[in-house]
Amino acid sequence: MNVQKRWLCLSAVALALLAAVTVVAEKEQQKTTPYPLSLFAKATPDDYMGEKDCAEAGCHYPHADNFNRSPHAPFVRNPKLPIDQQGCEACHGPAKPHLEDPSKIFSYSQSKPADIAAMCLRCHADTMRLSQWHRTQHGKADVACTACHQIHWQPHKEPPARGLINLGSLRSPQTEKEPQPRRLLKFDDPILCSQCHQRQANEFRLNFHHPVPERRLECSECHEAHPSKAAQKRFRPIKEMCVSCHPDKAGPFTYEHDPVAGWSGEGCTECHRAHGSQNPKLLNAFSRGLCAQCHTDKSATHYPGRTCWMAGCHAAVHGSNSDALLRRP
Ligand code: HEC
Ligand code: HEC
Ligand code: HEC
Ligand code: HEC
Ligand code: HEC
Ligand code: HEC
Ligand code: HEC
Ligand code: HEC
Repeated sequence: MNVQKRWLCLSAVALALLAAVTVVAEKEQQKTTPYPLSLFAKATPDDYMGEKDCAEAGCHYPHADNFNRSPHAPFVRNPKLPIDQQGCEACHGPAKPHLEDPSKIFSYSQSKPADIAAMCLRCHADTMRLSQWHRTQHGKADVACTACHQIHWQPHKEPPARGLINLGSLRSPQTEKEPQPRRLLKFDDPILCSQCHQRQANEFRLNFHHPVPERRLECSECHEAHPSKAAQKRFRPIKEMCVSCHPDKAGPFTYEHDPVAGWSGEGCTECHRAHGSQNPKLLNAFSRGLCAQCHTDKSATHYPGRTCWMAGCHAAVHGSNSDALLRRP
């Protein structure tokens, strides 16, 4: 091998090495950028600059300013807290490295939903653990905490109308006077939920519906947004949930009606729609068809009246204490 060839060969090797090193460095950088907990784990006390300096740096109008109105503000301003729970840095991570390299901060708009959840749950373990969150439908579908919650104060936003009826009543003067929805939600339930669940919101437009658009009921009274400790206690199959508001329908009765008792099947939703229906009393089907879905042995002649549950017939569809044929309570 002559000298020239040797040099060529060596420089090729060097180039390959350089490329490999760059790839590794890039991978390293991807790995180390915004993962929130490592941000805290690696920080020394010197890496924190304190809320005053963050605010006075003057870069973060209006965030620094409007944060004063957040219920988080009084908490993170408690000087007795560990340094990683104080000020802006409690949620955005140690900020000194950010002065040299602006990307070195936990930015919610740049972060993955799972990382955001880990960040929030550093403090909200009482509401749920990270593993519990990842088992919810929203956690599984990668919906971020910040898709529903607004941490920095925001001027009242006109909610986009999506599907819901009677929006007029949702925009009542009372709502205007109280521009921040409770629980730091972006919008009041059910406007919030109907942003993503338009089909379900539409079901409340049917003639007979649970009074959600009328504001007498909220989506989250039937659906747990997350498995808080209180919610876990309340965790219940559909029947228990319905019965928590309609206790008289569940008995116990001397003569139970199998689908109401929920011995098998879905319970209440075998006859009722949960959201809304074309039929009175939110029934799945009107008249005979409702009962005929199961009682197929009853011929059409077993049908003297308008419905099977009119007076004189099976008026006690949910169960009876006096009559095995459910004709009276
Ligand atoms: C309790 C957690 C929390 C604290 C404390 C907090 N922030 Fe935020 N910050 C957030 C969240 C969450 C967002 C994403 C937008 C939102 O939900 O309001 C955000 C967004 C921002 C943004 C917009 C950039 C982006 O990536 O979205 C800036 C700038 C900002 N915060 C600055 C500050 C400053 C300055 C302070 C201190 C005065 C502070 N934050 C304190 C949680 C917090
Ligand atoms: C440094 C700890 C800390 C972090 C990080 C934090 N929180 Fe909080 N959060 C609190 C405390 C403490 C309260 C209670 C404040 C109060 O009740 O006055 C609170 C209150 C709330 C509330 C209002 C509860 C209510 O009863 O109205 C919501 C919602 C909330 N946080 C969501 C979040 C989300 C979402 C994140 C992540 C972006 C987050 N928090 C990050 C400590 C934290
Ligand atoms: C799909 C929307 C949605 C998402 C996503 C969401 N929340 Fe909530 N959150 C709610 C609703 C609705 C409530 C109010 C529940 C109620 O009042 O019964 C709430 C209440 C809270 C509260 C108040 C206290 C409590 O225990 O009820 C905290 C704290 C909170 N959420 C934190 C979080 C955190 C942290 C995340 C991310 C891991 C998150 N939320 C994700 C909708 C959501
Ligand atoms: C940012 C969008 C978003 C918001 C806001 C939101 N959801 Fe969801 N929700 C989803 C996604 C995505 C899923 C995963 C399943 C799917 O694709 O329907 C889901 C799943 C669900 C499920 C389980 C569906 C099933 O098939 O088992 C329920 C119940 C639910 N959401 C209720 C609510 C309620 C109540 C609210 C308001 C407090 C809400 N959601 C707000 C996006 C959202
Ligand atoms: C009266 C209680 C109740 C209210 C109020 C309610 N839901 Fe439901 N929802 C249910 C029940 C029960 C089911 C399960 C239905 C079934 O399995 O037949 C359900 C199912 C769902 C599902 C799963 C998909 C589906 O259609 O089966 C989503 C998503 C959902 N609801 C969203 C919402 C939203 C959004 C609101 C508010 C606009 C809301 N719900 C209000 C009881 C309720
Ligand atoms: C959080 C409370 C709550 C829960 C849970 C709940 N409901 Fe209701 N339900 C109501 C309210 C409020 C009304 C409206 C009553 C009125 O207009 O006087 C209602 C009305 C009804 C009606 C119609 C009554 C009529 O006279 O037209 C039926 C049927 C019904 N609910 C069945 C159910 C079923 C089935 C479930 C479970 C999927 C359920 N409810 C869960 C509160 C609830
Ligand atoms: C076998 C079918 C069936 C099942 C299962 C069923 N219901 Fe009903 N429900 C009916 C019928 C039919 C009516 C209408 C009765 C009437 O108009 O007199 C009704 C009416 C109602 C009403 C309105 C009552 C009123 O006085 O206006 C409520 C509330 C209700 N059901 C709740 C429930 C709950 C809660 C469950 C589950 C525990 C349930 N239902 C299970 C058939 C059923
Ligand atoms: C989801 C299935 C289902 C639906 C819908 C249903 N039933 Fe039943 N019903 C049963 C089962 C199961 C039994 C107990 C087993 C049996 O004896 O057939 C029962 C028992 C009865 C009984 C007691 C007498 C008997 O045959 O044992 C009467 C009366 C009755 N149902 C009437 C009705 C009426 C009226 C409706 C409509 C409002 C209705 N059922 C809807 C499943 C259903």
